[in-house]
Amino acid sequence: MNTRRWILTNDIHNSIRYFAVLIGLLLLSLSLLGCSNGETTLPAKEQTESSVPTADSLTSNHARQQYTPDEQTNGSASSQKHPSSLANRPVRIGFAMDTLVEERWKKDREFFIQAAKKLGAEVTVTSANSDDAKQIQQAEQMIADGIDVLVLVPHNADATAAIVNRAHRAGVKVLSYDRLVKNADVDLYVSFDNEQVGQLQAEAITALVPEGKYVYIGGADTDNNAHMFKQGVFDVLQPRIDAGKIRVVYDQWSKDWKPASALQHMREALQASHNQIDAVIVANDATAGGVIQALQEQGLAGKIPVAGQDADLAAAQRIVQGTQTMTVYKPIGKLANVTAELAIQLAKNEKIKTNRQVNNGKIEVPSVLLSPIAVNASNINQTLIADGFHSKEAIYGKGK
Ligand code: GAL
Repeated sequence: MNTRRWILTNDIHNSIRYFAVLIGLLLLSLSLLGCSNGETTLPAKEQTESSVPTADSLTSNHARQQYTPDEQTNGSASSQKHPSSLANRPVRIGFAMDTLVEERWKKDREFFIQAAKKLGAEVTVTSANSDDAKQIQQAEQMIADGIDVLVLVPHNADATAAIVNRAHRAGVKVLSYDRLVKNADVDLYVSFDNEQVGQLQAEAITALVPEGKYVYIGGADTDNNAHMFKQGVFDVLQPRIDAGKIRVVYDQWSKDWKPASALQHMREALQASHNQIDAVIVANDATAGGVIQALQEQGLAGKIPVAGQDADLAAAQRIVQGTQTMTVYKPIGKLANVTAELAIQLAKNEKIKTNRQVNNGKIEVPSVLLSPIAVNASNINQTLIADGFHSKEAIYGKGK
């Protein structure tokens, strides 16, 4: 082996040796650094033992589970994920709502806060005003602030999948309230049987108008419920459509459930059919209000049967005045009570009793679905008034 090659090999050996020493030293210094301020990017395990958790460090389940209650000073999220730590403090629930515009959501909020408090839980409520980015940001903030479980009313069934993933990374379970989040590992869905809502509407109207021209005004197509309601309606209408008895001459979604959008759609439908419409099925009472305004403009209010949903006060008044035929009543107090109980059980990793499974495009979501009730002028006293959902005076007016 000639001299030059020997020197080279030697050099290479020496440089490798130097390099190895250098690496070793570096690793040593880094591990020493970890113990002092927790800022460096070391594997989760080491980080958790020393540093106070930040929102980001809360994302790794692994880091979270290593925390035991007594290690936590600031009550940040991590200790909450340890069911045992819930034994000596209230469960913290985040209630991320889409909107408070419709009458029913104001009721949901009040009923839910009452129910959760009665069960000893703490509730943080946010409302995103139908803004997806805002809803995601609000949910992230509640997760970072240390909630144990998230109760979510999605504005957009698809966009909110990101919230479920984010929550799970933080060890926070997610309960989909009334509306389902699509394409995500939702832990539990609590709602009403929304297809049955549509079936009750169509059964009530086809009983009055077995043949003729129908208009369907749907809800927001970003809302999975709107699709379930519509499915229920067409389950009943389709055989009659196939038999040529019923023709759906107009069928549109209403952006963000806006009454103004339903008003515009109904004006178009009346114009296109020269007011020759026999029945209208509308996804909720707020949009039914827009539809009935359009009928009023043509002197047709009270002459064409209209179905709605939600048992809003205005709808109950229209039903007893005769301009709306029926609504579908969903006892929201019951929904809020059941949800508060189940959210606390979820946070405590307790076994949950469900009665259905609903496919959300990714999984069969364990679900609890409650029964909706058809309401018209003949049973409004035995339902809405009997339940105290609205007072007799509010519906019929003073002295009635
Ligand atoms: C749906 C809900 C309805 C209706 C609508 C508009 O998801 O199930 O009750 O209120 O939203 O907010």
